[in-house]
Amino acid sequence: MKLDPIQAAAAAQFDRQSAHYGKGHILEQTADIDSALQHIPLAAGWRALDVATGGGHTGLLLAARGCEVTLGDIAPKMLERAAALAAERGLRVATRVFPAEAMPFDDGSIDLVSCRVAPHHFSDPEGFVCETARVLRPGGFFLLIDGSIADGNPAAEAWLHRVEKLRDPSHHRFWSDATWRRWCEAAGLAVRICELQPMKQPDLEWYFTAAATPAENREKVREAIHTVAPAVKEFMRLGEEDGKTVWWWQRLVLVATKQ
Ligand SMILES: C[S@@+](CC[C@H](N)C(=O)[O-])C[C@H]1O[C@@H](n2cnc3c(N)ncnc32)[C@H](O)[C@@H]1O
Repeated sequence: MKLDPIQAAAAAQFDRQSAHYGKGHILEQTADIDSALQHIPLAAGWRALDVATGGGHTGLLLAARGCEVTLGDIAPKMLERAAALAAERGLRVATRVFPAEAMPFDDGSIDLVSCRVAPHHFSDPEGFVCETARVLRPGGFFLLIDGSIADGNPAAEAWLHRVEKLRDPSHHRFWSDATWRRWCEAAGLAVRICELQPMKQPDLEWYFTAAATPAENREKVREAIHTVAPAVKEFMRLGEEDGKTVWWWQRLVLVATKQ
């Protein structure tokens, strides 16, 4: 599998850090997925593909609901851990290593493609949407949840991008809700839900640990926090709670169907 530099950086980062994305990670809390699934008529036996599955939290929820799930990721160690968690919970899943931008599945072979808190690492998110549209059957569903930032606030976007890149160099970029909508529509996916929801980053220090952020980058992030412009601080709801640095992401929840 030939990876481009952005994909290779993500694979190396997440192989190294795979132990941190299972139990105890904030992504283990799946209320966002439960809520989005209310817009999808999920049925037992659906073939679900969870792209960039990480610790497997989304794919395992779908398996627990009776779907035939394939967990996909670019980092083999992530898949090993997700498979171990599935076995621990008595869930049957398949695993497959592949980049989101090139899915090794036939046209129209999947009922649901899910992808949560990962496309901000992808080198070609628009290509990922095209691949999603290709592998979905007509009437199949796409569920996307990821960090995002609405168009129209370039200062906050630049600040957030810098902080994320320092914390985890495999971060590529967040895309606005409008951009995701445009990519979906161009690929033949009809967007049913496309909304930004607030999502709290509850503890900067924990967040550093999850990504093994180097000490010098931690200092640079703290500096970016101390020198943040007031308007950006307000937009990001950046502050202190119980001695912890917290801020809020805009989380995109998008549900689309293949026409
Ligand atoms: C934060 S984790 C995903 C969390 C997970 N989806 C969940 O619901 O808990 C991000 C994952 O994206 C994967 N990833 C990054 N870039 C990728 C790419 N281009 N193709 C496939 N997987 C990728 C990483 O290896 C990592 O496992």
